[in-house]
Amino acid sequence: MKRNLWKAALTLAVLLMLILSSGCGQEDTGKKVYLLFPDPNAGGPWKYVGETCQKYVADAGYEATMEFCTSPDDQVQRLKAAIEKKPACIVIGAQDTMIFGDALKGAREANIPVIAYDRLIMHTDAISYYASFDNLAVGEFMGRYVEEALNLKGGAGPFNMEFVAGDPADTNAPAFYQGAYDILKPYLDKGQLLVPSGQKEFSAVATKGWSADAAKSRMETLLRQHYNGKSLDIVIAANDDLANAVLKAQQSVGYAGARTLITGQDASREGLDNIRAGRQAMTVYKDPNVLCTKIVRMIKAVVEGSQPAINDATNIKNDVMTVPSYLCIPVIVDRENVDIVK
Ligand code: BGC
Repeated sequence: MKRNLWKAALTLAVLLMLILSSGCGQEDTGKKVYLLFPDPNAGGPWKYVGETCQKYVADAGYEATMEFCTSPDDQVQRLKAAIEKKPACIVIGAQDTMIFGDALKGAREANIPVIAYDRLIMHTDAISYYASFDNLAVGEFMGRYVEEALNLKGGAGPFNMEFVAGDPADTNAPAFYQGAYDILKPYLDKGQLLVPSGQKEFSAVATKGWSADAAKSRMETLLRQHYNGKSLDIVIAANDDLANAVLKAQQSVGYAGARTLITGQDASREGLDNIRAGRQAMTVYKDPNVLCTKIVRMIKAVVEGSQPAINDATNIKNDVMTVPSYLCIPVIVDRENVDIVK
């Protein structure tokens, strides 16, 4: 009897050692989440947005690794390295939304769910969810703001305007442009709005890499060529960096026309300062706390099998698949409510 007891205890001890040693040296990848975000030094809201998101993911109990990428290529390399680590989930704020098709095959093969943050990733079937703001609405807000501020419905005009749109490699950029364009088109058609440069198509007004320098030099050229003795009344600038680039261009060429109604996006520090000083009319605030809450729900869904919050299951398509999405509603900020942004 005693012998049997000893035998059982010994077997139990060996079993216990086996179980413990099998976990030894192995990390618990079930809690690992990689966040791969665009280069904050290239402008945009990415530093603050990335840090906020990392905090939300960590607070939800995950081991959140945030990597800011220095270029689209760097992001692809980091994605490949992240896949090797076999995390529970990868969240990508894509620097270039068109180039992940191949790299994401690796995630699919390794069964690692991928969530697209803010920018929809094209040409892949490996995206589980997408969370963003309603990007068309961002542009519509800009268009409506101009429509109201200048009483276009009441027939006012003609006003001179230009578009400064975002990066063609960013799926959001054409949506911002289109939202604004669709609201303003009737007034362009009626001649209440004029575009002296003639540059109206997205391809003509896009800014590669969202580069503020490129936008500034394009605007300098436009001002020199088309605004001698003429006022530039409106600029639909796709974000606060580009709005600020327009202001800098006006300064550098010594623009002497009437004050320009300039739109923006992101509620950046600089944008808010420009609004307070009356140099920029409005911005569109996309509170990262709102978006990151949705992202955490999506991470939980893919890791733990819970229900994510989705408000668009049919319309968001990336050429290969329909991506279940949550699109948050942004907020217009101008001088009246500028203090709501903390
Ligand atoms: C984001 C904007 C940002 C821009 C430039 C877009 O995809 O939605 O918030 O200003 O990229 O970084």
